[in-house]
Amino acid sequence: MSVTIKSHKEIEYMRESGRLLAIVHDELGKAIKPGISTKDIDRLGEKIIRSFGCIPSFLNYQGYPASICVSVNEEVVHGIPSEDRILKEGDIVSLDAGLIYNGYHSDAARTHGVGKISEEAQQLINVTKQCFFEGIKYAKEGNHLNDICTAIDEYARKNRCGIVKELVGHGIGQELHEAPQIPNYRMNRRGIRLQSGMTLAIEPMITAGSDEVKWLSDRWTVVTKDKSLAAHYENTVLITEGQPEILTLSSEGIQ
Ligand code: MF3
Ligand code: CO
Repeated sequence: MSVTIKSHKEIEYMRESGRLLAIVHDELGKAIKPGISTKDIDRLGEKIIRSFGCIPSFLNYQGYPASICVSVNEEVVHGIPSEDRILKEGDIVSLDAGLIYNGYHSDAARTHGVGKISEEAQQLINVTKQCFFEGIKYAKEGNHLNDICTAIDEYARKNRCGIVKELVGHGIGQELHEAPQIPNYRMNRRGIRLQSGMTLAIEPMITAGSDEVKWLSDRWTVVTKDKSLAAHYENTVLITEGQPEILTLSSEGIQ
């Protein structure tokens, strides 16, 4: 499929979709404390999404059994919420959420510390978030996709972090996953030319160890092979002629 360019009307829907998802993340972030189960987080996320009259896009996506992906410590992405998984002080937890507003998807992820966390863990969370912001410095009309990928790669490597290569960011709109794929590492080609009206989910998945990951036997949860900590940070962004518009960023300015 080729990359879709959103019309003015579609951009309005994408903006609203993103604005609502940012609220979901704000609320989930406030709920993260020692003692909460990963299923509690999923239930709360689904409740908020539905309270907006929106659809949790991950639920039943290719059989995924929840609305929020909750991934703890060495889990990178797609952790399955469970009543038995209780967060404890010192854990880090990545929350990935998506919703559909009026037919338009938004997708965003945040990694939170649970209570007091180690300096190493906080550093990983910071680097992962900054990888996204380094990438989007190049997210504007006229640049090429690989400019974003390369900036993420260089920042992660400069900070001696691993880069998960098996999973990538993506275009987004009427589908959760649209073209193009957006790797978090430098490609050996320029990639597509970015154009105003493209909406992209840019999502660095970064580790405190090696690049290698594996899938658990639940066939969803992706974990680091070396059991090092992993973090995930994602926003849905709109390409313009100037600065990109980050559609899933909170106006509360927390995350
Ligand atoms: N944000 C993820 C992505 O971009 C999560 C979707 S996978 C799901 O691919 F199955 F959990 F929905
Ligand atoms: Co995504």
